[in-house]
Amino acid sequence: MPDHLRWGILGTARINRRLIPAIRAARRSDLMAVASRNRERAEAHALEWDIPRAIEGYQRLLADPAIDAVYIPLPNSEHVKWTLAAVEAGKHVLCEKPLALDPLDVDRIAVAARAHQASVEEGFMYRHEPLTAKVLELVHGGALGAVRAIVSGFTFAQSGAGDVRLNPELGGGALWDIGCYPVTYARLIADRDPKMVFGSAQWTSTGVDEEFVGLLRFPGGTTATIYAGFRAAYRTWLEVLGSDGALTVPNPFRPGPLETLELERLGAVERIDVHGSAEIFVRQVEHFEASVLDGAAPVVSLAESRRTAATLSALYASARDTSALYPQ
Ligand SMILES: NC(=O)c1ccc[n+]([C@@H]2O[C@H](COP(=O)([O-])OP(=O)(O)OC[C@H]3O[C@@H](n4cnc5c(N)ncnc54)[C@H](OP(=O)(O)O)[C@@H]3O)[C@@H](O)[C@H]2O)c1
Repeated sequence: MPDHLRWGILGTARINRRLIPAIRAARRSDLMAVASRNRERAEAHALEWDIPRAIEGYQRLLADPAIDAVYIPLPNSEHVKWTLAAVEAGKHVLCEKPLALDPLDVDRIAVAARAHQASVEEGFMYRHEPLTAKVLELVHGGALGAVRAIVSGFTFAQSGAGDVRLNPELGGGALWDIGCYPVTYARLIADRDPKMVFGSAQWTSTGVDEEFVGLLRFPGGTTATIYAGFRAAYRTWLEVLGSDGALTVPNPFRPGPLETLELERLGAVERIDVHGSAEIFVRQVEHFEASVLDGAAPVVSLAESRRTAATLSALYASARDTSALYPQ
């Protein structure tokens, strides 16, 4: 069993600027190579980030026996294809969210991962942060009484016309891109599958949802309302309302080094400081190291990824269903 992970990255994505420092900062990881569909882009990226090797073509990187694990920050539509290719080449995979756009694809990945003894994990950085653990400890520990409502969302003003997020062929759309955060968080808090979902989207002329509002109703009556959009300034929010109180969570999806939760009970507000990571994404990489090198359970299991894909798909199916349109 090796004591370090030798990493390769597929693609010269913008998000690499966050993951490259994190891989470098993680205790048992070494960044060895970046691959691009284009040689010049691979070389420029390797030069910019001081990565030892630039490789033309993702498959060539996967064929390299000196790589143990790959990070996949490709457009959403490419995640399944390249995760399967990587697993079949004997690599462990940390893939950006959403891992798959269809729950059946997560099943295919799980079968391949088992057959090749590969670790595959969907990259939800917030899942690795102490703030999330504290929220779940409070909520599941009964600090709010019975959870009745979850209100959460994520917006940012998407500006680039060429952005992969606006391309339906590449798995674009606000729900897949950022709605996956409030949806996964709501599911974590409710700790069960929803029994009903309703979605409504504002579609672009290109056919992706630029604004999405969703309602999830869980067994027992807890509801989650979620919002994801590309047409408002950057903002993230999460509030959990219970029979005995309410919890307000700042920066739920990208916690800073110090966040303060507000827990309100019987009219009194308790402020709870939570110390997080000095450098984001490092914990995600270190937990991935632990699952590969130590056999630790992944923080985001494939079973959870399957549930995420199923819920997001159901929300999209609801949004495409016109039967709930108001009569004109
Ligand atoms: N965890 C987070 O906080 C976070 C934040 C942002 C994004 N993400 C996720 O990371 C992924 C990438 O997002 P991004 O904004 O970084 O994307 P991006 O800058 O557009 O990069 C995507 C990369 O994919 C490669 N690619 C392969 N096929 C492509 C195609 N047909 N069209 C365009 N690019 C293609 C390109 O690399 P080459 O041309 O070099 O091959 C490109 O650089 C998405 O899944 C997104 O959801 C996660």
